[in-house]
Amino acid sequence: MRHLLTGAGSGIGAVLAQRLLARGDEVVVLARSPERAEEMAADLPGVEVLVADLARPESVESLAVPDALDSLVHAAGVVELGPVSELGVEAWTAQLQVNLVAPAALTRVALPALRQAGGTVVFVNSGAGLHAHPQWSAYAASKHGLRALADSLRGEEAGHGVRVSTVYPGRTATPMQEKVHEQEGRAYDAAAWIRPETVADAILHLVDLPHDATMSDVTVRPA
Ligand SMILES: NC(=O)c1ccc[n+]([C@@H]2O[C@H](COP(=O)([O-])OP(=O)(O)OC[C@H]3O[C@@H](n4cnc5c(N)ncnc54)[C@H](OP(=O)(O)O)[C@@H]3O)[C@@H](O)[C@H]2O)c1
Repeated sequence: MRHLLTGAGSGIGAVLAQRLLARGDEVVVLARSPERAEEMAADLPGVEVLVADLARPESVESLAVPDALDSLVHAAGVVELGPVSELGVEAWTAQLQVNLVAPAALTRVALPALRQAGGTVVFVNSGAGLHAHPQWSAYAASKHGLRALADSLRGEEAGHGVRVSTVYPGRTATPMQEKVHEQEGRAYDAAAWIRPETVADAILHLVDLPHDATMSDVTVRPA
């Protein structure tokens, strides 16, 4: 199978890339810069790396995406907490660009390849895509939007054989969660949260789902 992943440099996406490479699948990942591309190629032997900065969604439009893709997994994401009274335009724009506009732009570029292979698009969303709590407005807005993108796309692409799934992880022990704890002023204990391996395995299940079914939404919560 052949896959295109964002966010493979860290956390959930990195574990997923390792899992796919270990079983012999072809994995194409997206890096934000040539420097990150070199590091990711070294960290993930056998991977093919494309360069685009998701903070500038137009940069995905010239990507040389493979002809056929069994999956496109959107795992990249950024978070910046703060009350609406303080959150500036820069923070809003950064989260909306990386978490919402870039996944839409990259999906558009990859759709011919996904249609060709009857592939699956997986959006890594968040509990914040279902409920918006204080301090989380911009991130939650981006993830609510990502849910809308997935739901529209699912209906549009059913006739083309492309399936669309959203995963809603709760707090997961990755560098992003460490940053969230810093911003919340709380001590971080990785053992308290979902392991990124568990979320990556849920995504793998969606990617490998036999063609008789589709799983539209999967919520993964800490036990
Ligand atoms: N951790 C959680 O508690 C949690 C909970 C719910 C949902 N999620 C979601 O799960 C997904 C994965 O998060 P994670 O926890 O694994 O986070 P992470 O460890 O911080 O990884 C985020 C990835 O996104 C990439 N990225 C960020 N900005 C980018 C840009 N401008 N261009 C290209 N790539 C960019 C990063 O690239 P670099 O490697 O270059 O930094 C990194 O590989 C995200 O969508 C996140 O919103 C996470």
